[in-house]
Amino acid sequence: MANKTKFQAIKGTRDLLPPETELWNRVEQTAREVFGTFGFGEIRLPIFEPTELFARSIGLDTDIVGKEMFTFPDPPLLFNPQFVAGWTKLKELAIAYDPGIGSINQESQELILANSRKWALAAFTGMKWAIESSMADPVTLRPEATASVCRAYIEHGMQALAQPVKLYYMGPMFRRERPQKGRYRQFYQIGAEALEAITPNQDASKSPGKDAAVDAEVIEMVMVYFARLGLEGVQLDINSIGHSAPECRRGYVEKLKAALEKVKDKLGEDSKRRIDTNPLRVLDSKLESEQGIIEKLPRIGDHLCADCAKHYAEVKRQLELRGVAYRENWRLVRGLDYYMRTTFEITARGLGSQNAVCGGGRYDGLVELLGGPPTKGIGFAIGEDRVILSLQEAGKVDMAQGLDVYIAWMGEKTLATAIRAARDLRQAGLRVELPPVEQKFGKALGQADKLGARYALILGEDEVASGQWTLKTLADGTQGKYSEAGLLEFLRRQRGEKVKE
Ligand code: HAM
Repeated sequence: MANKTKFQAIKGTRDLLPPETELWNRVEQTAREVFGTFGFGEIRLPIFEPTELFARSIGLDTDIVGKEMFTFPDPPLLFNPQFVAGWTKLKELAIAYDPGIGSINQESQELILANSRKWALAAFTGMKWAIESSMADPVTLRPEATASVCRAYIEHGMQALAQPVKLYYMGPMFRRERPQKGRYRQFYQIGAEALEAITPNQDASKSPGKDAAVDAEVIEMVMVYFARLGLEGVQLDINSIGHSAPECRRGYVEKLKAALEKVKDKLGEDSKRRIDTNPLRVLDSKLESEQGIIEKLPRIGDHLCADCAKHYAEVKRQLELRGVAYRENWRLVRGLDYYMRTTFEITARGLGSQNAVCGGGRYDGLVELLGGPPTKGIGFAIGEDRVILSLQEAGKVDMAQGLDVYIAWMGEKTLATAIRAARDLRQAGLRVELPPVEQKFGKALGQADKLGARYALILGEDEVASGQWTLKTLADGTQGKYSEAGLLEFLRRQRGEKVKE
């Protein structure tokens, strides 16, 4: 008998179904339109990349790289003959020592036991070698796409193009997080990145002002997009985390560490650990008991170098010029290591604790870290699942019209006409359902109703013979007779299209 296992989507993943997918399409289409008006073009990236790409860019001490990536050996261990041979040997050894777990004849048992030391060592060595060679180049399902965009920028020599290179992307990302509302293991991001190669004769003194304008425009673009979607309760938080130098962030982190050491006993386990691994992340803590302590810690804004302070002031001025409202949040440090200077996060209504719908920031130097030329970068990623949730919570889901026309055809002789009617109406852009077999009148209307059709086109032998077709409006039950051309014109008019008189 067939195995009756019921398959279910894996924890943290889900199916997106119609009609909700209409909303997903609208959210994505609006992104294409808005980002296009800012000069961004679409990049489509692979779903998996070498693990090293993410480890090096996002940072080894981050939650993402430390515990959330879906990484697997390539090729899989089970395809490695050394591994399989070692495994088989170990199994034989186990059985020889405990025949209760498998059958073996006495002769073989004695042989194996006599050689067990040698066999165990050989199995171990073979398996170790197999694991090491399989894990030499592991691959990872992308947890984000900024690293991939930088990899693509280098791989395609995009520094030779007009700068900045402005790219957007959308698609699934994967993180092994604890699933809850608004947090999934396969989730969807819509992101954008602006990358600019640093030319040798660039005037460094003009840089902070110019970069700030790029930062502000990227932020403006997301805000315009959210406004276009009608997202509610949108709040933009910004910060500057300076750059990695002793007179800037590194100096600050030392001070922060010293201050944290003094209050270590009062901190939770996560924060205690982070004092050494990633002290900035302590500022991110949501733990109630730590809030009072964090408020008294030194603030990065007081320790920025002159250039970073100038850049931050200019970002704020540029945002104001563009009419973008923001809130400064000195604790906004973000969970990925590649950021410098500008960081930002946007929250929206109706999402509970997972209310960040967008995160981003500047990452000058990341392309270089990945082996490319000196390059600046700024970008963001929007959590599409959360945007959808927020729109749904606010009731902003004027979901697409269902079906326009259900064709109730009766009598074999009407089939050809019904097929032609379906083809012409579809060509005019109407959503049409043509039942594959003829139905009784009552059943056809019931089905039309179930599918949410606005009209039923009734085609019986009389209608076909007279060329006068009957159209029933299902909401009020009224009906009228139309010629073939007249019907098309009527339906178009109903849709608000201009029809040539
Ligand atoms: P991120 O803050 O890790 O940044 O993610 C951006 C957004 O993705 C979050 O604000 C959230 O809306 C959504 N998101 C993250 N994890 C999940 C999850 N498990 N379930 C649902 N939604 C989630 C980045 O990924 C950076 N690459 C952004 C960036 C681009 N920075 C510069 N350029």
